[in-house]
Amino acid sequence: MLEIDELSVSYLPDKKAVHALGPISLKVDSSDIYALIGPSGCGKSTLLHVLSGIIKDYQGQVTLNGKKINPKKHDIGFIPQNFGLLAWKTVYKNCLLSLRIKEKAITSSHIERIDYIMDKLNITSLRDRYPRELSGGQKQRAAIARSFIMSPDLLLMDEPFSALDALTREEAQELFVDMWNQYKTTTVFSTHSIEEAIYMGKKIVIMSHCPGTIVEIIDNPLFNTKNLREHNEFHKLSAHLRNVVKKGWKL
Ligand SMILES: Nc1ncnc2c1ncn2[C@@H]1O[C@H](COP(=O)(O)OP(=O)(O)O)[C@@H](O)[C@H]1O
Ligand SMILES: [Mg+2]
Repeated sequence: MLEIDELSVSYLPDKKAVHALGPISLKVDSSDIYALIGPSGCGKSTLLHVLSGIIKDYQGQVTLNGKKINPKKHDIGFIPQNFGLLAWKTVYKNCLLSLRIKEKAITSSHIERIDYIMDKLNITSLRDRYPRELSGGQKQRAAIARSFIMSPDLLLMDEPFSALDALTREEAQELFVDMWNQYKTTTVFSTHSIEEAIYMGKKIVIMSHCPGTIVEIIDNPLFNTKNLREHNEFHKLSAHLRNVVKKGWKL
């Protein structure tokens, strides 16, 4: 379980503090998916940077499975907005890297898992290509493959599909949820898309304007529902989300 307790983050550009986030407290159960949604600049990336260990200077406590969160001790997968693939390594080597970083010996069962996941995400034929030779959707699938290959304790994604066109995005979202249904990796992702939050978030966390605090947490009945727009419930829930996000602006 991921436990965030009274977390606050301030940045100090030119010694003038910017209070960017919090205080927020949140418990994320193992094998759950949390979607973070809120106005631009409310601190979504900041929160993900704390969880991934990029930001070490924060107030409050963050623990994963009972221990202070630490990317050197926990297996944490982080997919940043630009996908985070290494330009000088092929798709396959990028995928292997998630294992190498943790200095795990690569066994035949790892290789089987890599082959299986690459096949599921339709990137087997791209294994020897470099990231510059991939489309946005292909890069995203390679980044997702890499994260699942390392079987992380926690998977973090920062606006994972926002750079993709609508059709590619839908396909990538479906592939992601299929992978998640198989591995049930504890996941926290940010999005500015209400539809994405409703399709991919089992829980939806609505954040207020900067410094972001939690306004509401919704237990989402429409998680993994195909053709969302055909459901009345979807329109009700998205109107509610839109209202709460708007209210958050005024807090
Ligand atoms: N490196 C930084 N230095 C100073 N302020 C920052 C820095 N990064 C983000 N901020 C500020 O912190 C707030 C939260 O930013 P961010 O976490 O990127 O929001 P979001 O991802 O929700 O759009 C914003 O007001 C932003 O301007
Ligand atoms: Mg952001």
